[in-house]
Amino acid sequence: MAQAGFVGAIDQGTTSTRFMVFDHAGTVVARHQLEHEQLLPRAGWVEHNPVEIWERTSAVVQTALGKAGLGAADLAAVGITNQRETTLVWDRRTGRPLHNAIVWQDTRTDAIAAALDRDGRGDVIRQRAGLPPATYFSGGKLKWILDNVDGVRAAAERGDALFGTPDTWLLWHLTGGPDGGVHVTDVTNASRTMLMDLETLDWDDELLGFFDVPRSMLPTIRESSAGSRGEHGVTRASGPFGGEVPLTGILGDQQAATVGQVCFAPGEAKNTYGTGNFMLLNTGTEIVRSKAGLLTTPAYQLGDEPCVYALEGSIAVTGSAVQWLRDQLGIISGAAQSEALARQVEDNGGVYFVPAFSGLFAPYWRSDARGAIVGLSRFNTNAHVARATLEAICYQSRDVVEAMCKDSGVQLEVLKVDGGVTANELCMQIQADVLGVPVSRPVVAETTALGAAYAAGLSVGFWRSTDELRSNWAEDRRWEPRWDEERRAEGYRRWLMAVERTLDWVEVD
Ligand code: G3P
Repeated sequence: MAQAGFVGAIDQGTTSTRFMVFDHAGTVVARHQLEHEQLLPRAGWVEHNPVEIWERTSAVVQTALGKAGLGAADLAAVGITNQRETTLVWDRRTGRPLHNAIVWQDTRTDAIAAALDRDGRGDVIRQRAGLPPATYFSGGKLKWILDNVDGVRAAAERGDALFGTPDTWLLWHLTGGPDGGVHVTDVTNASRTMLMDLETLDWDDELLGFFDVPRSMLPTIRESSAGSRGEHGVTRASGPFGGEVPLTGILGDQQAATVGQVCFAPGEAKNTYGTGNFMLLNTGTEIVRSKAGLLTTPAYQLGDEPCVYALEGSIAVTGSAVQWLRDQLGIISGAAQSEALARQVEDNGGVYFVPAFSGLFAPYWRSDARGAIVGLSRFNTNAHVARATLEAICYQSRDVVEAMCKDSGVQLEVLKVDGGVTANELCMQIQADVLGVPVSRPVVAETTALGAAYAAGLSVGFWRSTDELRSNWAEDRRWEPRWDEERRAEGYRRWLMAVERTLDWVEVD
């Protein structure tokens, strides 16, 4: 049989789902993408419809393959990457969701998170799971569903309710759903629940006890690139691939981007600009515990190799602040226009925007914060607000870089970037200005899907080694800092003052 010439990757993100097909050089040969609805039933709540996500996934796979004239036999393997922490529970007998997916940005569990820090359980979670108790992670969301949705706890105790992040939900459906679907996740996704021990890479009974979660509803935790235990699953011919393809890669989207950016050596870092921003610094096989407000997380586990860890700075709202200008304020008609509007002014005109819509994530971890636009005078226009929005993306990334320096001692020499917002040239220039280091964007900006494809392809020998992947990486564009030190220091000082003003805004019981 002829060797299949391509690897596919499903990228199930916060606002859309895409399927991409890559060749051996890491070049995109087919793609399709569809958005899904953001359900905002109450202030602070964000949900997705799991059925819509599965249907959109099926549609993007079929359309991308159809457009390129490809079929299951052309694919050596498929990887899945996904928005992390987003929590789904469904009935294993019917495949029907028992609640909408509770999205990572959702803050309904602030009381659950706050309670963990009152009696020392928070410190156990920090130590064992590498995470500060926060609304962001899946454990509290799963507890909320078990405690608040009729019948779910009983179904879980009977073994009929399954939990998963979007990778698990999709892989279960692709491998047969109620008819024998495989219930697995990988170390990167499992680590975002507050339920996994970073050292054993398994669910931890004490942590499960903190959230009252029955082990029977949890997926098996696998390596990110399937090793000698065999593939994670095989697609069913009746599904969107129309044939059997090994599913051999699973990675949370930010870890996938780390792989796609070939950050395989300790000290290498990337920053992805999506709905939020997520910077990951490879720390090798060492588990580095943060003192500066970062997360400790698996970066990837390739086959039977030991797990490689990372320090992560997660920022909840960056690209979604630009969306907010479009959807809620109506001052731009599309993301690209934010650049044109911001270019109408030389600087921010004294305006700082801290988009703490979901509280503040790294390095602050303050769920009591809410967004603020400060420094307004009558002189200011929409253009200053647009500029302040782009600056907010960059200043939040500076906060994370500062924390990474403190934790690791690594001085950033260049920042590797990717994600949708990196198309905004002005934003990337501001990023270089705010950080005082060059910013570098690769030719293949779709590093998230590429990373999932790499994980899947390594497993089946499509790519032989991470060294081979390195040679696929090439720089597309580099931005050099232009601000002088004084402007950089003064801008950051005012940013930190603006952040102060967002704290203590809501009461968390
Ligand atoms: O942790 C949340 C992250 O995985 C979401 O990424 O790209 O869907 O905004 P994105």
